[in-house]
Amino acid sequence: MAKILTGIQASGKPHLGNLLGAILPAVELSKKAENTSFLFIADLHSMTTVKNAETMIANTKAVAAVWLACGFDADKNYLYRQSRLAGLHTELMWYLNCLTPYPMLANAHSFKDKSDSLSDVNAGLFTYPVLQAADILLYNADFVPVGKDQKQHLEMSRDMAAAFNRTYGECFVEPQSLINENVMTIPGIDGRKMSKSYDNYIDIFLPEKALYKIIKKIETDSTPLEEPKNPDTCLVFIMYSLLASADEISEMRSNYENGGYGYGHAKKALLGIILDRFSEQRKQYDYFTQNESELEIILQNGEAKAKEVATENIDKARKLIGFA
Ligand code: ADP
Ligand code: TRP
Repeated sequence: MAKILTGIQASGKPHLGNLLGAILPAVELSKKAENTSFLFIADLHSMTTVKNAETMIANTKAVAAVWLACGFDADKNYLYRQSRLAGLHTELMWYLNCLTPYPMLANAHSFKDKSDSLSDVNAGLFTYPVLQAADILLYNADFVPVGKDQKQHLEMSRDMAAAFNRTYGECFVEPQSLINENVMTIPGIDGRKMSKSYDNYIDIFLPEKALYKIIKKIETDSTPLEEPKNPDTCLVFIMYSLLASADEISEMRSNYENGGYGYGHAKKALLGIILDRFSEQRKQYDYFTQNESELEIILQNGEAKAKEVATENIDKARKLIGFA
């Protein structure tokens, strides 16, 4: 049995890029009988940036609702908020803090990127990778699916596991990162990488009208409707190709190449395919946002189950340190 674990910051509602690049592949992994998946909302990490309670609550609910809507089975697996197990996560973080050399943290990209204005760096941001290692080691995860930007944090987590085991005796699994280099970077409506930080994303869970409004904003050139167009340089075609079947893609390709087909037509087709491909997920998302108490019960159940695993592992660490 493999234990797979990943954390998602409560920094906003997941978008099409997150779905195709991270969420849907992780849900597929979690469905395999031989895997157990631990999926948590890294709301303690989000504290380094989110400073407003309403935003924190709204983002946490949106993240949980999206994962459930995308088919994450919280009975077979574990879905929880890190903050509800804060005592255990931060306890292990302290143990790891005491084994982590200062230069390792000073070298972390997450810190270095901000280090030109040190007065803006809080201690939470500096020790961010230690909390992340604690999140992972506490559950003895074997594999951690993450984006490329998290590679260094995963290497640090392995180092911290090895340092603990060397110092106190065998306790923690050295986790391996699972970085899917093949996942393409989904472009946003302005052609840059789709990202919350560029405000260029498509939220596929919006009501139809609002969704269409965003799709209409996708940047295109000004080739007139009657003229042939190059599908391969068009963002609408690229996005459509990520979701459509081979037949649908070749039909749209011919439409572009033959002329008499405008970007407005292509945008309508993109709306259609999003509504079609994600119809079940959209229904489920609406369900969970309208039934918040159900969402809360699912999270609390996940937290109770996660607590058992975490408690067993922290007890082992405490004994090895000499706190038993
Ligand atoms: P954002 O840039 O919107 O803040 P995150 O950094 O929170 O997104 O990314 C969360 C996960 O989604 C990561 O695993 C990342 O690799 C994936 N992801 C984010 N944006 C894209 C994208 N445009 N295309 C593919 N995958 C993406
Ligand atoms: N740092 C991760 C990110 O920004 C989120 C995260 C926190 C995480 N703890 C984790 C990811 C543990 C994987 C495992 O995306």
